[in-house]
Amino acid sequence: MKGIILHGGHGTRLRPLTHTGPKQLLPIANKPMSQYALEDLKISGITEIGIIIGDVYPEKVKEYYGTGEKFGVKITYIYQDTPKGISHAIRLCKDFIDDDKFVVYLGDNVLRKNLIDYTKKFQTSDSDAMILLCEVDEPQRFGIAELDKNKHGKIKKIMEKPKNPPSNLAVIGIYFLTSKIFDIIDNLKPSWRGELEITDALDMLMNQGNKIEYNTVTGWWKDTGTPEDIIHANKLVLDSIGTENQFLIDTDTEIKDNIVIGKGTEISRDSFITGPVIIGKNCKIGPSVRIGPYVSIGDNCKLQQCEIQDSIIMADCTVNAKVDFSCSIIAHGSEIEDSNIPKKHQFLLGERSQLKL
Ligand code: G1P
Repeated sequence: MKGIILHGGHGTRLRPLTHTGPKQLLPIANKPMSQYALEDLKISGITEIGIIIGDVYPEKVKEYYGTGEKFGVKITYIYQDTPKGISHAIRLCKDFIDDDKFVVYLGDNVLRKNLIDYTKKFQTSDSDAMILLCEVDEPQRFGIAELDKNKHGKIKKIMEKPKNPPSNLAVIGIYFLTSKIFDIIDNLKPSWRGELEITDALDMLMNQGNKIEYNTVTGWWKDTGTPEDIIHANKLVLDSIGTENQFLIDTDTEIKDNIVIGKGTEISRDSFITGPVIIGKNCKIGPSVRIGPYVSIGDNCKLQQCEIQDSIIMADCTVNAKVDFSCSIIAHGSEIEDSNIPKKHQFLLGERSQLKL
């Protein structure tokens, strides 16, 4: 079986974070979110992986994953010139897939349970597709499956973001497919948002008499479309730090009381850290810092005097100010320092920055 990771799209709801890179490289617990997808595929024995890159800094994706060798997989990059939908991206993989069964994993989806059992099941199954469903609170935000009340285990309809959802079962962004899907996609029409939808392809596949299986996922699943989603995903992943192998960090880090500390990081005695928290390598924490719970801090950060909860601070940031913040995302190389002008704030903000004071 082969794997495909979707790494394109503009990530408009995540601006300004996506002005400088694709959303799927944004870190959750100090690891790019698409790496969770790649590791999930690898753990299930899928090592031939196609990564679909778009026009938002595709070179950064290639630089990070390279040939895949250091992640124990073989990567082929496939270029999608414009984001015309998930089905369009899948269609670009026809030659790469050939006649294999395959798994498509949206690079902005994070799933708690790994794919080992699902992959085994699909490998031996005679189904033409297998989807994963998860109960959600806002079904109008997702692709939705309506189950057939009269036939147990059967899906009646699959639809994209319905205004009046007939169920709260979201079709999550991990699809088990066969090469049958390619001909279906060739006959698809763009949706109201101008995209070739995967939900429409699945629905058409089913209507043509093909067999689609489903599983309902246990544990959490997160689609990280907004900053709030990313902060929530960070919290969910940090909750399982050190206890679930797919979320384990580099082996050269220390883990104690749900606090992961990278090599070369110094923490001053008067600083308090409440786990779960992850701190990268070569950071200087303190004096007078309170961190946690649910904070991820990237490599080479310098933090002094501050209090931080529920937040992501990416690598190479400096916070040297008497500030107390939560639910925040601070991108690479940012600086927060006390102002030189008494009783005044002083800002240098990039496009679409957000401040809540
Ligand atoms: C896409 C799919 C949708 C699915 C969701 C899962 O939505 O179109 O069916 O439920 O991913 O993450 P999008 O992220 O493009 O809005």
